[in-house]
Amino acid sequence: MYDEILESVRNTLNSSEGLHFNAKHYLTMHSHAVGLKNPTILELGVQSGKSTKLFLNALHQGDQGVLVSVDIDDCSKVAASPKWQFIRSDSTDVKKIIGDAPVLGKGIDMLFIDSLHTTEHVKKELYGFFPYVREGGVIFFDDIDSAPYCEGGELDSFYVELENRRILRFVNDVFEANMKQLDLTIYRGWTGLARLEKRSSLMAELSEPQGLKERKSKKLWKLKRSLKKRNLMNS
Ligand SMILES: C[S@@+](CC[C@H](N)C(=O)[O-])C[C@H]1O[C@@H](n2cnc3c(N)ncnc32)[C@H](O)[C@@H]1O
Repeated sequence: MYDEILESVRNTLNSSEGLHFNAKHYLTMHSHAVGLKNPTILELGVQSGKSTKLFLNALHQGDQGVLVSVDIDDCSKVAASPKWQFIRSDSTDVKKIIGDAPVLGKGIDMLFIDSLHTTEHVKKELYGFFPYVREGGVIFFDDIDSAPYCEGGELDSFYVELENRRILRFVNDVFEANMKQLDLTIYRGWTGLARLEKRSSLMAELSEPQGLKERKSKKLWKLKRSLKKRNLMNS
C-alpha cells in the first residue's frame, strides 16, 4: 500500500542537498515504523498526507498496528486504510484525542510531532502525550534545524529561523532535564529531525526543562576553582 510514495522518496535520495536530507528523514521514520511489531503510531500534522501514507506503507508490511493522525484541518480524505483513524482537532487537546482513539491510552510506540512549529505548541504536544508513550517508544520532531531559513538560504525566513532555534534549544533542555529517562538523537540537514526515545515506563512524566547555566567569564571560573582548591587544602 502506498508503495509509490516510498519509491518517490527513495528516488530523491540522490537529488539536491535539501531533498536528500528531507528524504533521509522520512526514510529514518519509515524504517523505524517498519521495525515495530503491531505498533500504535500517533501523527500530529497531516496536510497532504505524505508522512501519513509512508506510515501506512510501513504498517501494511506487518499484520496489525494502527495509525492515528490529527490535524486542525479536515484531512480525512488524504488516505484510506482500515488501519487509519483521522481526528480533526487541535493537536494539544490530548483529552479529546485519547477519548476519540482510546487505543492511544494503552501505549504509543511512535509519535511524530509535525503540526504548528512554535515552541509553546510543541511543548504542549510533547508534555501532553509523553505519559502515553510506552517504554522504548520514540518521538520524532520535524523542523528543528534553522539552516535553510537563514539569510540567503533556500527558505529564507527570519521568523522560522529564530523559532526553529528555540525549538532545538527546547528539545535539548528537555533532554538535559530528563537524561534518566531519555535518549536524544539529532539529525541535521534541511529542516532537521530530532528523535527522543523514552526509557521510562508508561505514564512516567517529563520534568520541566531547567536550561543549563551558560558560563560567560573565564576569570570567574579560574577564581572559583582556586578558591575551591584552597578550601580543600585547608580542610
Ligand atoms: C507541516 S504540515 C504536516 C506535514 C505532514 N506531517 C507530512 O510530513 O507530510 C503541518 C500541519 O499541521 C496542521 N496544524 C497547524 N496547526 C495545528 C494545530 N493547532 N493542531 C493540529 N494541526 C495543526 C496544519 O493544518 C498542517 O496540515
